[in-house]
Amino acid sequence: MLSPMFPLHRPRRLRSHPQLRRMVCETVLTTNDLIYPLFAVPGEAIANEVKSMPGVYQLSVDKIVDEAKAVYDLGIPAIILFGIPDDKDLDATGAWHDCGIVQKAAAAVKQAVPDLIVIADTCLCEYTSHGHCGYLETGDLSGRVLNDPTLELLKKTAVSQAEAGVDIIAPSGMMDGFVQAIRLGLDEAGFQDIPILSYAAKYASAYYGPFRDAADSAPQFGDRRTYQMDPGNTREALKEIQLDVAEGADMLMVKPALAYMDIIWRVKQASNLPVAAYNVSGEYSMIKAAALNGWVDEERVVLETLTGFKRAGADLILTYHAKDAARWLAQ
Ligand code: PBG
Ligand code: ZN
Repeated sequence: MLSPMFPLHRPRRLRSHPQLRRMVCETVLTTNDLIYPLFAVPGEAIANEVKSMPGVYQLSVDKIVDEAKAVYDLGIPAIILFGIPDDKDLDATGAWHDCGIVQKAAAAVKQAVPDLIVIADTCLCEYTSHGHCGYLETGDLSGRVLNDPTLELLKKTAVSQAEAGVDIIAPSGMMDGFVQAIRLGLDEAGFQDIPILSYAAKYASAYYGPFRDAADSAPQFGDRRTYQMDPGNTREALKEIQLDVAEGADMLMVKPALAYMDIIWRVKQASNLPVAAYNVSGEYSMIKAAALNGWVDEERVVLETLTGFKRAGADLILTYHAKDAARWLAQ
């Protein structure tokens, strides 16, 4: 049987010329969409390349400032800071101390590049001796992270980050009630205008592997499945989103991104907040490894991937490829 649509309709007509393709292009990736993650370490003149993430470095504060300038010059609006402290303990002191590494890095960046938005990842896993995202009772090696005591530490962490000059607080520990606790803590301390970007739907993912090398934050025992989500769940993501919106989140994040495009889409439909997708470490490493082997065209694969996140509904993309992407987009 002949289709009644053909030859009346020929979609190829609109693909016949580059300018025409530009006119009907539905999704445009821009440098405004990008957020670049940086890892701060104590010391000076330090740039340790992360083995599993070629092109990504642990940087001392002076080098972070140089990077921040470069990022700003490329037109990327924001960075997100992670910290690797000298000392780790049960109270995650390095997370909330005035002289914490993220606090130092944030203050230095805001002084050198005031117009660059500085986001702080607000979590405890880089600062706890056991590597979990929350508080554990002394000697409790069962891995039971205590929710409500963790909220107190997160509140302290967020306030000290805000005091250091951080522009946006991004809690990533998947503790129940963490958005509300942080909102109240920030408000009490006079930071009513600091937005919260909540890692709202964060899955227990193997794609975080390289990050845990970069941030030295692998749990010393057990895993994160009592707080991060099961990769099979969608409804639960929507529940998390609903709760975070009700608790006062200003922006929502889905993480990881590549294997969770449907979740990005659903979150976008389910809320009126800007949605961020975290193109995580393992996603970066996979493309990087293939590119270094000459198996894929890095520029094209990265731009296609990032455009895909936008098409799925992401307004913002956290990516280790942000600087490369900004350069490629500028050409
Ligand atoms: C800390 C945190 C993690 C990432 C961002 N914040 C690691 C984890 O939850 O284990 C992962 C980022 C990445 O893989 O690039 N809670
Ligand atoms: Zn964490």
